[in-house]
Amino acid sequence: ASSLLQACEPSVYSTRKEEDEYADVDWDNLGFGLMPTDYMYQMKCAQNGTFERGQVRPYGNIELSPSAGVLNYGQGLFEGLKAYRKENGSLLLFRPVQNAIRMKVGADRMCMPAPSVEQFVDAVRETALANKRWVPPPGKGSLYIRPLLMGSGPILGLAPAPEFTFLIYASPVSTYFKEGTAPLSLYIENEFDRASRGGTGGIKTITNYAPVLKALSRAKSRGFSDVLYLDSVDKKNLEEASSCNIFVLKGNVLATPATKGTILSGITRKSIIEISRDLGYQVEERAIPVEELMEAEEVFCTGTAVVVASVGSVTYKDKRIEFGTGAQTACRRLYDILVGIQMGHIKDKYGWVMEI
Ligand code: COI
Repeated sequence: ASSLLQACEPSVYSTRKEEDEYADVDWDNLGFGLMPTDYMYQMKCAQNGTFERGQVRPYGNIELSPSAGVLNYGQGLFEGLKAYRKENGSLLLFRPVQNAIRMKVGADRMCMPAPSVEQFVDAVRETALANKRWVPPPGKGSLYIRPLLMGSGPILGLAPAPEFTFLIYASPVSTYFKEGTAPLSLYIENEFDRASRGGTGGIKTITNYAPVLKALSRAKSRGFSDVLYLDSVDKKNLEEASSCNIFVLKGNVLATPATKGTILSGITRKSIIEISRDLGYQVEERAIPVEELMEAEEVFCTGTAVVVASVGSVTYKDKRIEFGTGAQTACRRLYDILVGIQMGHIKDKYGWVMEI
């Protein structure tokens, strides 16, 4: 049992069904819907910038002042990472230190203090262990862990909040898109932008996500899986999709937009770049004009939630272009290696996986 759980009041974990190895869940029908688990993690930080000792507590609503910074001015960040259950019963976290570092970078941009890397990783570990019975059986999915950092203190004039809260909750998940593992159809958006130069597209602020809902719902209502955004300056180069990064393959060259402030620095993106280089692909992080995408052999998306998802078609100005999909693609090979490492089936030569 974790030290934090031991430190909690008995009443806090008396609801815990220690005897049940698994929660009562239909593991064969998980998608990406919220399924609340037993526990969440909470840690507060006062104006002096130091986070007090955090606590695992029963999952439930939180109380916020109507004038909380996050509600009024969007001072908030989120992260996402997964825990897989190994056949031997232990849990595997994938690169949690990277999430901790990304939250620190984002917090600096959003004028918030962040938990230290150690505090962040400990909190993720405690949350995963406390909710272990919600981690799907091997091969059925993972526990998606969602850390949040927000300006929780009251503020009226535009300024950083006087108090900050770090929270983590979790939900068992399987595939992100309703298509499951079938190829995605993307729609290239020509009206709305996702991010702009000098903005916050490169960090995981909550304010990057609500603004894409309009384009996303419009595309979904027309039958597309997701939207692919273009750069906001001359609408010429690819940026990313609403929920994931994008890769384009032609021959031996695998290209993905460079992270120059408007592209989220995805941890799956970074991992796929490393695996691909090791497999002998020439990986290029640079600007990718739409015309280049139209001539690609394969296109795929990457993200923690999305993992590595094959793109079967992209529609741009009423023109639909199709790409290679299926068992023989680079996308499938990269997916198999990445997920193999995450699930503990493939030797982790990179040191990415943390067994807890
Ligand atoms: C993730 O992949 O973890 C994300 O944060 C994307 C989110 C829209 C589900």
